[in-house]
Amino acid sequence: MPSIVRAVYFSPTHTTKAIVREVASALSAPLSATIETTDLTLPRQRPTDVSCNADDVLVFGFPVYAGRVPVLLRDEFAHLEGHGTPAVIVGLYGNRHFDDALLEAADLLSERGFNVVAAGAFIGEHSLTARVGTGRPDSADIAVAQRFGAQMGARLAQSRSVPEPTIEGNRPYRELKPGADVRPITTDACTNCGVCVACCPLGIIDEDDPALVDAGCLHCRACVKSCPEDAKYFSSEPTDRLIAMLESKCLERKEPQLFW
Ligand SMILES: Cc1cc2nc3c(=O)[nH]c(=O)nc-3n(C[C@H](O)[C@H](O)[C@H](O)COP(=O)(O)O)c2cc1C
Repeated sequence: MPSIVRAVYFSPTHTTKAIVREVASALSAPLSATIETTDLTLPRQRPTDVSCNADDVLVFGFPVYAGRVPVLLRDEFAHLEGHGTPAVIVGLYGNRHFDDALLEAADLLSERGFNVVAAGAFIGEHSLTARVGTGRPDSADIAVAQRFGAQMGARLAQSRSVPEPTIEGNRPYRELKPGADVRPITTDACTNCGVCVACCPLGIIDEDDPALVDAGCLHCRACVKSCPEDAKYFSSEPTDRLIAMLESKCLERKEPQLFW
């Protein structure tokens, strides 16, 4: 049976998507596989089930939030079903650290019937401040992603029984503190164009009045980054403190780390 590389990702500000696409594309060539993409970012696009058989390969990508897999995404694992399917994890982080996120993703995928064969921690521009991880992933990151995918594809073409690598991280995972109720602020520059409404992963921005935002905001900044009028921003003391920490301690370039 021809195999399918299933590229599944959550990517509000598109950096995860950029790396997953490169890895999946390079991985598919040695396997002569087709690529099927599932974008979990928007509520209306989230599928009920993604079932993978043993001939397929899953490339699963997510942004690291607070050193963990985003909470919203954890429910989505229930819809993924593997049957001994090899899985490659792509975790995108904003040049601080990925902490336990890759290990947590590996545990969640193993519980769903996948054999984790590799994991990569890549760097993207930090969604909270463009001064950290600026311009990442860049051409050097893309080249690493392509090599990672190609070499993993070649290994899997030789044998499907690749042992699970030791992935950096700790159990119990980094503790998650309850998030503050942060919501984007909308200025008078808003023209009600609806771009932010359409790109919100939670669908919590009011269609008729985009200044109204329900509770539960992820702080992913998709609305801020996509607004053509720069009419949305965040402002809260805890966030401003975090941004100041990132801008003072996390400017030094980190490189992708591969576990395989
Ligand atoms: C709520 C939140 C928490 C984050 N936590 C971390 C973190 O713990 N470590 C880190 O290096 N980057 C962190 N980031 C930055 C993202 O991992 C990074 O911007 C990523 O590239 C976003 O992926 P996307 O473009 O696919 O949405 C966080 C971003 C947000 C919005």
